[in-house]
Amino acid sequence: MNANGKPKGQRGKISPSIMCSPLFDLEKNVREFERLGIEYLHMDVMDGRFVPNYMLGTDFIRQLRALTRIPLDVHLMVERPEDVVDWFGFAPGEYVSFHYESTVHAQRVCGKLKDMGAKPMLALNPATPLAALDYLLPDVSAVLLMTVNPGFAGQKLVPQTLKKISDLRLMLDERGCSQIEIEVDGNVSPENAVKMRSAGADIFVAGTSGVFLKGKSLEQSVAEFRECIK
Ligand code: DX5
Ligand code: ZN
Repeated sequence: MNANGKPKGQRGKISPSIMCSPLFDLEKNVREFERLGIEYLHMDVMDGRFVPNYMLGTDFIRQLRALTRIPLDVHLMVERPEDVVDWFGFAPGEYVSFHYESTVHAQRVCGKLKDMGAKPMLALNPATPLAALDYLLPDVSAVLLMTVNPGFAGQKLVPQTLKKISDLRLMLDERGCSQIEIEVDGNVSPENAVKMRSAGADIFVAGTSGVFLKGKSLEQSVAEFRECIK
């Protein structure tokens, strides 16, 4: 096992937040991510109701899927995800996260995503207790812990979410669910990523804090970020 109690050789995975990529550099950046061995592309979908912002629509996601072989990691920040999950053409191997706080039918949404071959990921806002997972562990492949309040890039970490990561990893391991991955999203800077990794995070959403850094190439910022999540 490595220092984080992970099976040897299982490095942290990077999921760059595509909403943070300058739009007109998108294809160039995606080709660079392919070259750098990036594991996922994080696609933030916002409906202006669950969060006070709009972001990345259905056509955008369908076109990006057609552009690259990197699996998508779609983050639905939308009210009633059960009404929209059929709009995106989710494919096998893709992670699709939806917010526990956005539906009264979380277990049903997980089932719909599984039926499409997608991997359900339950997203929790900073204030939402881990008990939300108590009767969903058989249905999720991963858990997305928001480390900022969802809706905008460039925000500051909610500090108590660091302990939430280690509490979740402990809970999953104690319940025989170590295979469930933990994704973290929001102000995942290299400095914060080191703490998140040692707390037990597996997948790191890297946005304006992580890899889209002014004055640094993607190659440089990804290499430095990798060092933080070994
Ligand atoms: C916020 C989004 C994040 C965000 C991350 O709601 O889910 O993906 O873009 O960007 P930074 O790194 O700027 O927090
Ligand atoms: Zn996100």
